[in-house]
Amino acid sequence: MNDIIQKINHKTAVIGIVGLGYVGLPLALEYATRGFKTIGFDIDERKIPILNSGKSYIKHIKADKIKKTVNNKKFIATADFTRLPEADAIIICVPTPLNEHREPDMTYIENSGKMIAQYLRAGQFVSLESSTYPGTTEEILLPMFENAPLTHNPKSKKFVVGKDFFLAFSPEREDPNNPKYSTATIPKVVGGVTPNCLKVALAIYNQVIVKTVPVSSPRAAEATKLLENIYRSINIALVNELKMVFERMDIDVWEVVDAAATKPFGFQAFYPGPGLGGHCIPIDPFYLTWKAREFEISTKFIELAGEINTFMPYYVIEKAAEVLNKYKKSLNGSKVLILGASYKKDIDDMRESPSLKLIEILREKGAKVDYNDPYVAKLPKTRKYQYDMESVELSKKTLAKYDLVLLSTDHSDYNYKFITANSKLILDTRNAFERAGVQSEKVFKG
Ligand SMILES: NC(=O)c1ccc[n+]([C@@H]2O[C@H](COP(=O)([O-])OP(=O)(O)OC[C@H]3O[C@@H](n4cnc5c(N)ncnc54)[C@H](O)[C@@H]3O)[C@@H](O)[C@H]2O)c1
Repeated sequence: MNDIIQKINHKTAVIGIVGLGYVGLPLALEYATRGFKTIGFDIDERKIPILNSGKSYIKHIKADKIKKTVNNKKFIATADFTRLPEADAIIICVPTPLNEHREPDMTYIENSGKMIAQYLRAGQFVSLESSTYPGTTEEILLPMFENAPLTHNPKSKKFVVGKDFFLAFSPEREDPNNPKYSTATIPKVVGGVTPNCLKVALAIYNQVIVKTVPVSSPRAAEATKLLENIYRSINIALVNELKMVFERMDIDVWEVVDAAATKPFGFQAFYPGPGLGGHCIPIDPFYLTWKAREFEISTKFIELAGEINTFMPYYVIEKAAEVLNKYKKSLNGSKVLILGASYKKDIDDMRESPSLKLIEILREKGAKVDYNDPYVAKLPKTRKYQYDMESVELSKKTLAKYDLVLLSTDHSDYNYKFITANSKLILDTRNAFERAGVQSEKVFKG
């Protein structure tokens, strides 16, 4: 253990990051920028030459930062996993989606675990960051590493955790494009399989993260991440439900949330929207639901929140039909322009975006749908949807073509006054127009 801690303290430890996406890439750049030689591993071979030529494939991760670390020879990307033994510390940041039965899809974690086990060498540290159910690190990764092939184990005996190798879980808390927080400034919860594992994990993360928060086990760390996301999912469901209740009472939910948020304690503002999006909030809570079944206990709050949040795109389309109906139009045959395709404002991430569901329902109802998104030129193929659609230009002429403009994602770049001036009718699911100071009878909230 002292060997690896000494290497970390002298910045001679080599860091290996497995999975170079929204989470892994900024973390890799953080270590590389602090002077650690960092090797990024990814199975997606298309990403490797992009990174190694100093370019970025994620909008908010600037190419300059990548270029600098590549030129300094601190960062290199590769799809060659035989290089894993070069790394002293390996951090896994691979996806954890749900499968078609809405159950945890553990294949990414299992595949990276198998790959690491194949090359595991004495003295290495491995940390899992992917959001997952409590027990994953000790139930899936630990046995793989304890039974790792002996090729890289000169003593030819089984690896012992906390002695021959070190294993931890540290949940990732990235909030892409949040100007206030970045990888380095978000405190990090860390749980080691043994006290030695925790010591090594803290040494590694303390090099780049402003504050580490040790907990008693990987399970506690895994559960912490789920609590954070379940808390968000449930609170978003609550305001989504209140939006529908208050609407009937002719009360504006956004006004009420803003007023409640002036209370200096005991209240945190969450806002309604067209449905949940992103890789975390719509998915992670169900990892716990699935695991809880093994313990014969159900997760009623999570299921209820899921039901309400899943209903929201349908509610938005009901509102769209209502708004058109006021002007003697039906959804069937109407031209609808969706503004914003990504799941949240000012980013290009399309995963689980409710805009995709809105397009599906609108088409089912006979509407002709287009979209505009300054960050998504073409709709990518996702797990569930494959549309052949390109972002349309946002001009006077194009806006005038649509019977309804439906704001799904409130990008800051949108000129809300211009959009209002040139559209026939607007349905705003984010209260963006009012926040931008627009007052118009053409704008409806929904
Ligand atoms: N994106 C976020 O804001 C965010 C926030 C909190 C937590 N998380 C969690 O972090 C984890 C990673 O999310 P992400 O957003 O970075 O995903 P991502 O899809 O952006 O990136 C994952 C990367 O892993 C690669 N990959 C898949 N299998 C691999 C393997 N076996 N070996 C090497 N590389 C492999 C993919 O090619 C991809 O580049 C998930 O568990 C997610 O829930 C993400």
